[in-house]
Amino acid sequence: MRVVVTGATGQVAYALLPRIAAGEMFGPDTEVDLRLADIPQVIDKAKGTLMELEDGAYPLLSRVSASADRAETFKDVDWALLVGSVPRGPGMERGDLIRRNGPIFVEDGSAIRDHAATGARVAVVGNPCNTNCLIARHAAGAKVPDERWSAMTRLDHNRARALLAKQANARVSDVRKLAIWGNHSATLYPDFTNAEVNGKPAASVLDRRWLEGEFITLVQQRGAAVIAARGASSALSAAQALIDHVRSLVTPTPKGDCFSAAVVSDGSYGVAKGLVSSFPLHSRGDGGWEIVKGVTLDDFARAKIAATVAELEKERDIVKDLLAAA
Ligand code: LMR
Repeated sequence: MRVVVTGATGQVAYALLPRIAAGEMFGPDTEVDLRLADIPQVIDKAKGTLMELEDGAYPLLSRVSASADRAETFKDVDWALLVGSVPRGPGMERGDLIRRNGPIFVEDGSAIRDHAATGARVAVVGNPCNTNCLIARHAAGAKVPDERWSAMTRLDHNRARALLAKQANARVSDVRKLAIWGNHSATLYPDFTNAEVNGKPAASVLDRRWLEGEFITLVQQRGAAVIAARGASSALSAAQALIDHVRSLVTPTPKGDCFSAAVVSDGSYGVAKGLVSSFPLHSRGDGGWEIVKGVTLDDFARAKIAATVAELEKERDIVKDLLAAA
């Protein structure tokens, strides 16, 4: 498996790379050729990480390299993990980064078009990840079809799942059918109305007022809370979420459950076609995804989803020139 990780000198990558090398992302039978990508100004630091990866003597790490040249790092990749971007600081929303980070994803999308393997898949982490994914997807054009793109809302999914479990005094594994809808932003909607705790509707186990209020706000604001506490954005939980994101795509979804990622909308649930929005998904385990059909959404859920999708439409308009340039 040839894998490029952009932003290889960043904190997310530092928590992520050893876990990919150890087989946690692609499983214990898959050797990995790991490409560390970053900008020229910092690539020497990536060479230090490269040394550490070599020194780990990971049996599954068939090759590891580092370069600031996308033609090298994206060559024949099966997976592109697009982490590299400027992170937000205290007091910022992720959307504030849109004009700063957008151009990076034009470059990444173009590199995928020009150098990646046929059949390459892409996961976007750099924020605002939904719209950055939209930008890269446009830049790559027809060579990489819609079903190969995704952006990471798994961190929100994991946060919501952990929070529901804690509040219900249950295990994380007892929480199922939870899904994040919309944008990875302060408008995201964690749908508790279809979630189950120990096979029972979450709203029958937990107070609906808490679910509609504090629960949603905590999930929406968790990234900002981590930044306020740590002075830097999440890294180890983001790495964990990316491992889970890819694992959910490369392993069949357990029957009766779903996972969350932002994918290119086919118009399902009234989400404008082409927007990169989070949905409940199933995978057959081949790296692809299907949007779960027939989810019942009450008026509360519909209103929340409409608000987060409206924000995605606004973001798309702000980067119109980057979509047209591609
Ligand atoms: C997160 O959700 O923790 C990351 O997207 C970083 C951020 O800016 O919140």
